[in-house]
Amino acid sequence: MTARSLLSLLFNASKGLDVVTTALDLGILQALDAGPVTLREVCARTGAKPNRMYKFLDCLESMGLVERRQTSDERLDASYRSSEPLTEAASAVLGPTSIERDRDRYDWRAIHGQLPAVLRAERSIDSFDWPPKTPEQVRSFEGSMAAGCAPILESFLAAHAQIFEADRPCRWLDVGGGDGTLALGVLDAVAGVTADVFNLPSTGDLVAERARASPHAARLRLVPGDFFADELPGGYDVVSFVRVLHDWDERAARELLAKGARALAPGGTLVLCEEFRTRERLAVQFFWTYFLMGVDACESRLRDVDFYLRELSALGFAKTTVVPGSFDLVVARHGSPAPSRPDR
Ligand SMILES: C[S@@+](CC[C@H](N)C(=O)[O-])C[C@H]1O[C@@H](n2cnc3c(N)ncnc32)[C@H](O)[C@@H]1O
Repeated sequence: MTARSLLSLLFNASKGLDVVTTALDLGILQALDAGPVTLREVCARTGAKPNRMYKFLDCLESMGLVERRQTSDERLDASYRSSEPLTEAASAVLGPTSIERDRDRYDWRAIHGQLPAVLRAERSIDSFDWPPKTPEQVRSFEGSMAAGCAPILESFLAAHAQIFEADRPCRWLDVGGGDGTLALGVLDAVAGVTADVFNLPSTGDLVAERARASPHAARLRLVPGDFFADELPGGYDVVSFVRVLHDWDERAARELLAKGARALAPGGTLVLCEEFRTRERLAVQFFWTYFLMGVDACESRLRDVDFYLRELSALGFAKTTVVPGSFDLVVARHGSPAPSRPDR
């Protein structure tokens, strides 16, 4: 897409979303996903007038969502199909529990239209502390994180055989593990695992609530602490950082990785699930990238996966695999005892 066309679409974004919402509601996206489907068929299914539906489908094509094929002058025979699966993508963004809707409740309007002053640090977002401070901030932020856990859980479950050893007890430390939503999802599906969520003491009530509301209260607990001020507890078969390291600069991320390595039992597995710097993650992360311009304490540094691979290699992880999925996972097995000297 050229800059001219992207910006034109952005200018008309609310109309584009109107078209996509309608296409989802009328079952047009589903038909396009199952396609090819002709204009005649779409009109028969929806009761639409052909010359109107033709323009409607052109709107979808303008956004790059639809491919069109016309082999004769008969417009009704033109056939359409999705460029890639649309129903799932549209439901994820437009559905009632989408992360986009969740993020929209934050006070981004505090900086909207004020970016020159924001960039000069003359204006900031006052309603958001990092890490979250007040009980309302903690509940709201951890709720936002939990709202985005489904694709991460999907990736963990798809790769569970590479992460958790089957048929033997496995101790897992999820560092910065939110309110325990991901851990509980894994406990649901993978027997033999017990999970410790390492998070700030302010998240204690939330994690306890989530554990109590699940059938796994005996297998999940919070280990309260500050991962910069404290050493992580040790002896774990699996240690994970999920959407944690990109919140910090390189030096801090290195420090956390080294602490994670030291928390592993010999031969243990470190798992990273990050906002890697891909086009998709940059796009989905756009809200935070924009919003956090007004919050200096949170870095938001999407990095290429290579950064993490290099750091893991420097920490002595000989065997590291990138497992592709809804969220790519880096799975690193430690062959030798983890380094013991804190680096700060
Ligand atoms: C971006 S959230 C990710 C949460 C969760 N891993 C997920 O992906 O849903 C970062 C997490 O790091 C935690 N955190 C931030 N600073 C921390 C610190 N100094 N010590 C321990 N946890 C911290 C936050 O409370 C939050 O749960």
